[in-house]
Amino acid sequence: MLDLKTRRAEAQPESGAGPTAPAIPHPQLLSVADAKAMSLADMNGLFKDHINPGQLHFMKLLGFNKIKVERAEGMYYIDQNGRKILDFFGGFGSLAVGHNHPRLIAERKAFQEEGRHEIAIAFMSQYAAALAKNLAAISPGDLDMVFLGSTGSEAMEAAIKVAERAVGPKRPKIVYAENSFHGKTKGVLSITDSPLYRGEFRLVDRNVRVPFGDIDAIRNAFESDPEIGVIVLETIQGGGGIITAPPEFWQELRLLCDKHGVIWVADEVQCGVGRSGRFYAFEHAGVVPDVTALAKSLGGGKTAMAAMIARREIYMKAYGSPKTAMIHAQATFGGIGEACITAIEALNILYDENLIENSAVQGAYLLSRLQALQAKYPKIIKEVRGQGLMIGLEFQDFSQTLPLVLRPVVSVLDDKLKGSLSGFIGALLLRDYATLVAFTEYNRNVIRLEPPLICGREHVDQFVESLDDLLGRGIIRIVKDFVGSQIG
Ligand SMILES: Cc1ncc(COP(=O)(O)O)c(C=O)c1O
Repeated sequence: MLDLKTRRAEAQPESGAGPTAPAIPHPQLLSVADAKAMSLADMNGLFKDHINPGQLHFMKLLGFNKIKVERAEGMYYIDQNGRKILDFFGGFGSLAVGHNHPRLIAERKAFQEEGRHEIAIAFMSQYAAALAKNLAAISPGDLDMVFLGSTGSEAMEAAIKVAERAVGPKRPKIVYAENSFHGKTKGVLSITDSPLYRGEFRLVDRNVRVPFGDIDAIRNAFESDPEIGVIVLETIQGGGGIITAPPEFWQELRLLCDKHGVIWVADEVQCGVGRSGRFYAFEHAGVVPDVTALAKSLGGGKTAMAAMIARREIYMKAYGSPKTAMIHAQATFGGIGEACITAIEALNILYDENLIENSAVQGAYLLSRLQALQAKYPKIIKEVRGQGLMIGLEFQDFSQTLPLVLRPVVSVLDDKLKGSLSGFIGALLLRDYATLVAFTEYNRNVIRLEPPLICGREHVDQFVESLDDLLGRGIIRIVKDFVGSQIG
C-alpha cells in the first residue's frame, strides 16, 4: 500500500503586527523521491484511480503494466529488473535522437545552471528566435514563418487557422483524408477521421473527406466545390497504419492547389524530423506545401516542442499587421526556453550524426529483411511497407487464419484482441524478447515500427531475429502462449 507522507505546515508564530492568514494545511503530497521509488502495484493503482482505468485494461492485456521503466538510454528502456527493452515503438516517432542523448542532457544542465529564463511572452526569447531561424533554414522554399507550441495538435490547430485566415471567409471548407490523424483537440478533431476519437463531440462541419492518395477525388472536390480553401494531409499516414502515396501524387496535388488557390497543409508531426529519410517526407516528391507542422522528435525526446511553419506570404495574409498579429500569437508556453534549446540541439545532432541518412539506410535494410520474413511466413504477414524508419507490418486478419481448434481458447479474450494477431505478437515480443513495438487504433492488424534514428544494423538484426523466432512458433502456439500470458 502506498505510504503517503503527511507534511503539514508548521504553525506560524504570531507576529506582533500586520494581517495574518489562517494556516493552510499541507495536503498529502508525494515527493519526487516517492515517485521514483514507487512500486509497480502502486503505479497500477494510481493509474487506475487518477489517470485512465480503461487504458490500464489494454495495458494489462499487452503486459505493459508489468514494466516499471527505471532508465532509458539510446535505443533502450531499462526496466526494474535491469532488462534492456529494445525500443522499436519510439514514442510514435518522438525519439529521433534516442533516449537521453548526452548532448541534450549537457545543454539542458548548463541552461539550468546558468539561470536562463524560460517564459517568452514578455521579452523576446533569443532561444525561440534561434530555433525559428533553424527551422526556416531547414525548410525548403519560403516556409519561413514559425509558430512554436508544445504538441502536435497545437501545431496543427495553428496550421488550419493560419490557412483559413489566409484563404478568407468565403472558402471555409477543408479537404482531409480517410484514416487521417491530426490530433484530438476540438478543431483538428474535425479532420481526424476516427469515429472513436470523434465520439459525439460537436465538430467543425462541412469538411470534405477523400480517400488518401486519390488525386482524382481531390480534383473532383476542388472543381465542384468553390468553398474549399484548404487541404490537410499527413505526408505519411501514421495512425492509418503507415500509408504512403507516390511522388506523382504530391506533385499533382501541388499543381491542383496552385490552380484552384487551395492552401496545402502537410502534417509532418509524425513523419517529419528525418523519420522518412528526408527531413520532411514531402521532400521525396520535390514539392513544397504552403504550411507544415512538426512536433514529436522536435523536442529531442526530452521535452514537448512543436512548430507550425508557414510560407511567409500565407502568414502575412493571416497575421501580418499589428491589428492581426495577436490573433494567434504564441501561447503561454510557446517558445519556452529550455524546450527551445533542446530542440536547437536536437536538430544539430540530427545533422552532426547523419541521422537522416541513417534513417534511409537502416529503413531500407529493415524493410528488406521484413520482406524476406513475409516470404517466409506468408500466412502470417500480409504486407510490409513504409519509408525510412517509419514502417508498418500488417498481419493477416486473424478471423481468416485462426484454426478452428483455437476458437474456444480465444473466446476468453477481450473483443479488441480477438482478431488481432498484432496484439499477440506485440505482447509476446515484449514478454519473451524484450522488444517494444507500437499498435495502431485504425487498423488492429498493423504493428508500427518507429525506432530512434540512431538505430544501427545490429538493432535491426536483433529485432528481425526476435520476430523470426516468434513467428517460427506458428499461429497455434503464438495464440496459446498469449492466452497463457493472460492467465499466468
Ligand atoms: C500526424 C499527426 N498529427 C498530429 C498529431 C497530434 O500530436 P500530439 O499528440 O502531440 O498532440 C499526431 C500524434 O500522434 C500525429 O501523428
